[in-house]
Amino acid sequence: MLSAVEILSNIYWVGAVDWNIRYFHGPAFSTHQGTTYNAYLIKDEKTALVDTVYQPFTQDLIKNIEEVSSLSSIDYIVVNHIESDHSGAFPEIMRLAPQAQVYCTQKAAEGLNKLYGGNWEFNIIKTGDEISLGGKTLRFIEAPMLHWPDSMFTYCPEASLLLPNDAFGQHIASSSRFDDGVDLPQLMDEAAKYYANILYPFSALVARKLNELSGLEIKMIAPSHGVIWRSHPDKIVEAYSRWSGGKSKPKAVVVYDTMWGSTEKMALTLLDTLMEQGVEAKLVKMSISDRNDVIKEILDAKALLVGSPTFNRDFLPSLSAFLDDVKGLKPKSKIGAAFGSFGWGGGALKGIEEKLQEAGVELIQPGIGVKWAPTEEELTSCRELAMKVAERLNRE
Ligand SMILES: Cc1cc2nc3c(=O)[nH]c(=O)nc-3n(C[C@H](O)[C@H](O)[C@H](O)COP(=O)(O)O)c2cc1C
Repeated sequence: MLSAVEILSNIYWVGAVDWNIRYFHGPAFSTHQGTTYNAYLIKDEKTALVDTVYQPFTQDLIKNIEEVSSLSSIDYIVVNHIESDHSGAFPEIMRLAPQAQVYCTQKAAEGLNKLYGGNWEFNIIKTGDEISLGGKTLRFIEAPMLHWPDSMFTYCPEASLLLPNDAFGQHIASSSRFDDGVDLPQLMDEAAKYYANILYPFSALVARKLNELSGLEIKMIAPSHGVIWRSHPDKIVEAYSRWSGGKSKPKAVVVYDTMWGSTEKMALTLLDTLMEQGVEAKLVKMSISDRNDVIKEILDAKALLVGSPTFNRDFLPSLSAFLDDVKGLKPKSKIGAAFGSFGWGGGALKGIEEKLQEAGVELIQPGIGVKWAPTEEELTSCRELAMKVAERLNRE
């Protein structure tokens, strides 16, 4: 069990590390590297606890608080977000620290009482409201839909510290609490996966929030999952600016599945041609891939080519969850096309194209359908599609 860690003078990480979690949000989000539930204790003339942890880790939180303070010394509890991974320990902390005044948004107050059948009283905050801890101040910034309606950020101007809860988070369990204690490319990869799978649909709000935050001096960003941005806060803010702005690179992701190999031949032809044209390309066979990892690949790619044979008049079920996810996440400024083999009436292309269009992907040409196995001419059509994609990517 990890001990409390002083992240800045009299500001402590008092959270928990979940080394073994492999799926988050039920089955919705793969967490290959585990995660952490970060809570922070700020000591001053008054003491504030910012967020709690997932309920099974309540004892870790209590132990860490008691290492540096005591539950009876907590004057304020700030709830930045009511989701269970951050508020699960809240009822127990309220039982042990009944003197604490709770600060949260109106939506959080309603949500906490409903989630836990409580009858707690809350101090409802609006953006700009502050509480003084003595030498330090906590300033609140509402952040609705980043990523729930109740979400808010807490900022401590004296420490130039932003506590944005889920924003800027990453699912990484590690022995270090800081960005300089883990491999940076791996960290950015996990942060990208987090953004792509959680915040993508709210990109316009992220961009607006970054603009709002740009007036603040921020030296440290301490999110509620993963490591604290101590050495590279600028790097994650720049990445969020890029991702929320829909900026991509000349990269194409070819996602497909196949029963007997014909659609795979088409996918490989597309891939080879894209690479010949100098385009960064990624081939993904969906049935043996992790959906959340593939979504992350799409984040910085301009093109998404999706292939499936027709299976009962539609695309293969192994692509369904992925295509539904893309539809829900609404990636910005992507181009795409469909391809696949069929035996008689077809149907996969229409199904894929509908999903891509619903996701807002611009179809650059009608899909390529091939009866049974592709002929040399039909593979040439695949090469032409890849050339068209490459030309567009290399031009933009
Ligand atoms: C269970 C099953 C259902 C199929 N349903 C259809 C269908 O509804 N319409 C169609 O045109 N072809 C259908 N096919 C034929 C396949 O689309 C065809 O064999 C195709 O060439 C397979 O491509 P692949 O080699 O990429 O797997 C079906 C094949 C199987 C095995």
